[in-house]
Amino acid sequence: MRNRQILALTCFGLVLAGAENIRAESINDVELRNLAKYYSTGVSQQPRTEPIPPPTAPKAELGKKLFFSKDLGGDKDTACVSCHHPLLGGGDHLSLPIGSQATIPDLLGPGRTHSATRARATGMLYDGGPTVPRVAPTTFNAALWQQVMFLDGRVEALPDGGVRTPDTPFGVADPKAPNLIHGQALFPVTSPEEMASSAFEGKSNDEIRDALAQRVSANPQWQVEFDRVYGDEAVITFSRIAESIAQYEASQWLTDSPWQAFMEGDNHAINRQEKAGATLFFQEVKQGGAGCAACHNGENFSDEAFHALAMPQIGRGKDDGVTGSDDFGRMRETGKIKDKYSFRTPQLLNVSATYPYSHAGGYETLEDVVRHHLNVEEAVNNYDFTLTNLSQPGLQNTHAEANTRKALSVVKRRQENGNTPLKNVDLSNKQVKQLVSFLHTLTDPCVEKPKCLAQWVAEPDAGLNILEAQFAAPQSRTQFSTNR
Ligand code: HEC
Ligand code: HEC
Repeated sequence: MRNRQILALTCFGLVLAGAENIRAESINDVELRNLAKYYSTGVSQQPRTEPIPPPTAPKAELGKKLFFSKDLGGDKDTACVSCHHPLLGGGDHLSLPIGSQATIPDLLGPGRTHSATRARATGMLYDGGPTVPRVAPTTFNAALWQQVMFLDGRVEALPDGGVRTPDTPFGVADPKAPNLIHGQALFPVTSPEEMASSAFEGKSNDEIRDALAQRVSANPQWQVEFDRVYGDEAVITFSRIAESIAQYEASQWLTDSPWQAFMEGDNHAINRQEKAGATLFFQEVKQGGAGCAACHNGENFSDEAFHALAMPQIGRGKDDGVTGSDDFGRMRETGKIKDKYSFRTPQLLNVSATYPYSHAGGYETLEDVVRHHLNVEEAVNNYDFTLTNLSQPGLQNTHAEANTRKALSVVKRRQENGNTPLKNVDLSNKQVKQLVSFLHTLTDPCVEKPKCLAQWVAEPDAGLNILEAQFAAPQSRTQFSTNR
């Protein structure tokens, strides 16, 4: 609701009180804070309806072990953490993820590749590149999502309560999903590309979950873990597995950023360049700003709504379009043409650590993804569709340019008709740098410190098939270091 009001205000061009005619660089701290408060950014310190568990809470601890356990992968080679490691910004630092049947299953992040031999042996589709069609978003601050999860919102809160998931028809609550994160956690295990592999062919989602719950139950060591949380001789159901994982994810509360400190009153928490960037971010285009907050607003900088931006469609696609290589985004869920090529506005907390960017990971730096917004046509024209400039090998996709250009024509039409908050904006190189340095202030310093993140990393335990991550590249690097 809050977000819809903001959008309505922006659409009707109401100018917020006191902010008229302010030049981007001359705004003072109080004015900047008020501007940002108008867009509800800065994480509220009010108590929450769903309390945030500490990572040491027994259920979150159990969830951590499950999140790291390859026992939830069909072939016992993949865990949630395969694509969402805390040391990789809660994602995998790959444009497109590699789930089951990796060449070296415990090697995460850059360097992770598919094993052609293993894939062929089990009859899985293999063409040399990653098989998952979309980027792996971060699990950090997952508890801040209020409306929709997944990039097309296929897990979503319903207006009258309840959560709809891919297991229920559009608009119908899934009784298995008491809240968004729990509902989301029911699905990765059912996807052959992500976790299931070909182990459960022909089985329904519920049959897969039951089979996994039985597998876990059969291991006395897991039984001890569940008894500790759910009481003696606890029944191990997939619902309890998902509930524990959801508690672990909710414990990844990483919001203590310099920006948050500034919003709480510390004028020195961010510097002049970062403040100039913040001003550009929040001010409307007609006031000399970049108008970013029209979509990136609320505590996690997302309106939780869907917008078409024609960011490079480099993935293998979701079976959409004539070639099956396209991804229609939100329209896949609603069936409405107005949602074609629209993806959920990403959250921006810790964004310096959650690269690559956009729904198919087509951008590796913040500067590139920011520039795309400023002039979509120019960005698409300049994009290297050979994809050889991206770090991940095997991304080549003959349909990438044609699919992206289809999305571009939709965006251009909407821009001409005024049907999108996305405006072409002329910024100097200096201003782009300012915007990027502002984005860096949204990162909680814990995210850059392996020691601090260790509380979310499970201890090795062969009995629980805990994935012991290996990395080929340095972790926790943040993109485009500025003066911060
Ligand atoms: C093979 C890589 C892979 C594995 C393994 C995987 N995920 Fe994901 N995860 C993804 C991708 C890709 C998406 C986005 C998919 C989409 O939106 O269509 C995603 C989305 C999510 C989201 C939603 C975030 C958001 O911003 O809405 C959460 C939470 C999540 N995964 C948690 C999990 C959990 C829990 C597991 C284990 C049960 C898991 N993932 C296993 C790749 C993976
Ligand atoms: C029309 C709504 C809208 C506006 C205005 C907007 N964004 Fe975005 N932004 C999005 C959407 C939607 C995506 C994801 C698109 C995709 O995945 O294909 C995105 C992606 C991003 C990303 C990549 C995040 C990630 O994790 O992939 C960054 C960074 C970003 N925007 C920053 C900005 C900045 C800075 C501005 C102002 C110059 C801005 N945005 C203006 C909607 C918007």
